[in-house]
Amino acid sequence: MTRAIVIDTDPGQDDALAILLALAAPEALDVRGIVAVAGNVPLPLTQKNACRLVDLSGRDDVPVYAGCARPMVRDLITAENVHGNSGVDGYDWPQTKTPLQDQHGVDFIIETLMHAGVGEITLCTLGPLTNIAMALVKEPRCVRGIREIVMMGGGFFEGGNTTPAAEFNILVDPHAAHVVFTSGATLTLIPLDVTHKALVTADRLAAMAALGNETGKACAGMLSYFNRHDVEKYGSQGAPLHDPCVIAYLLKPELFSGKKIPVQIEISDGLTLGMTVMDWWGTTTEAPNCTVMRHIDADGYFDLLTTHLARLP
Ligand code: BDR
Ligand code: CA
Repeated sequence: MTRAIVIDTDPGQDDALAILLALAAPEALDVRGIVAVAGNVPLPLTQKNACRLVDLSGRDDVPVYAGCARPMVRDLITAENVHGNSGVDGYDWPQTKTPLQDQHGVDFIIETLMHAGVGEITLCTLGPLTNIAMALVKEPRCVRGIREIVMMGGGFFEGGNTTPAAEFNILVDPHAAHVVFTSGATLTLIPLDVTHKALVTADRLAAMAALGNETGKACAGMLSYFNRHDVEKYGSQGAPLHDPCVIAYLLKPELFSGKKIPVQIEISDGLTLGMTVMDWWGTTTEAPNCTVMRHIDADGYFDLLTTHLARLP
């Protein structure tokens, strides 16, 4: 049976590969919609990039919505230094064909959850949590339609990647993250502790470039661009491929391992704003609210990704 999902995203080259992976797996995932949020680049670009990815995949049955243009409280932080001015630099994108839906992305999320059966919809979040938090604030009853929220964000043992304490997706909108982490929904988090083990090495990049389809060409181009920043920053063999982990977790959960623990978000201003405070060792009496992944079979992950990308045009 297929699993119904909504992808909330700020593409982003790694978001791009996550979206393509999901769209390449129709036998497992019923993608009800893609909702853009401001993050890596401003909303007008993330919504355009989501449409570009639907075009590339040939899946014109999947609707694209625009959500929130800024975080709930703070000013928007973007990451053009990582992703380039378009967010998906590294490929020569043709004119966009997929139209943007008229309905606001937050209303689409609410409507989808309210019309679903109890625990039917999985929300896959690849960017700041603004749209999901806004939906939970606007219509708290919609939580009943959520099966699970699977998120890329945060970091604990690895620290942060945008400040020493905070990862980008959580730091951009810590207040939204706080709303989500206190919502009572079933939460799964894939933090930097996992994604920093999933590097786009030269061999893995070559395997994508060799696919022979336009998708392989686009992915190899985007990831070559994406690699340059992180290789310089971390001195590693390649950039961590963060966001496709969320979709890979749905397709093959045995690639990941972790445990359910209490997670709280630091929303006070100061050095640790946006930190995902994880009680990994059970030092508090807080109730566990999130399954946090810590390990990944990186070779299995890249095999899954490459074999699925081969299916696309
Ligand atoms: C996250 O931040 C963004 O730059 C990436 O797309 C990913 O979602 C990693 O910290
Ligand atoms: Ca992202």
